[in-house]
Amino acid sequence: MKSLVVYFSKFGHTQQIAERISSELANHGTVNTISSDQLVVEDLKDVDLVVMGTPTHNMNLPEAVRPVFEQLPKRILRGMPVAAFDTSYKMSAFLSRFTAAKKLARKLRKLGGKRIVPPETFHVVARQGPLYEGELERAQDWASSIMAVISQ
Ligand SMILES: Cc1cc2nc3c(=O)[nH]c(=O)nc-3n(C[C@H](O)[C@H](O)[C@H](O)COP(=O)(O)O)c2cc1C
Repeated sequence: MKSLVVYFSKFGHTQQIAERISSELANHGTVNTISSDQLVVEDLKDVDLVVMGTPTHNMNLPEAVRPVFEQLPKRILRGMPVAAFDTSYKMSAFLSRFTAAKKLARKLRKLGGKRIVPPETFHVVARQGPLYEGELERAQDWASSIMAVISQ
């Protein structure tokens, strides 16, 4: 099982979540963990799972992440299991409809990816963090739930 974990992180917290997800996935095979600005088409070849996460910025994907999708060929993720996460403030039910994870999930699906778990959000206390207590453990559990679906 070969997984690719792609993240963008301005202050380091999304990276921490990504790394915790990767360490759980590493119990099930090999994992390549890279920052979104390093992503090249070759990274997506011969992988069995793509997990991607960014912070929510202005109720959307961070601007720095948007060009990443423009450089990828259409349908490059055809049939590939994909999962999306973000880090955000704790928000009202209304505002939590506008997370980067939901936008990411849509982008990954547009590239042909197959959603295997709902987009997930991990919470920071304030703009520059820290993560709320327990969020790294929750990220590990989320990764474990991804593996449970894949191995069904
Ligand atoms: C420019 C900017 C805009 C942001 N907008 C939102 C937002 O709309 N909703 C939200 O929940 N958090 C927002 N945040 C907080 C980020 O989600 C938070 O900085 C991020 O989770 C920290 O992750 P990082 O350490 O990986 O950068 C914003 C942060 C920045 C810097």
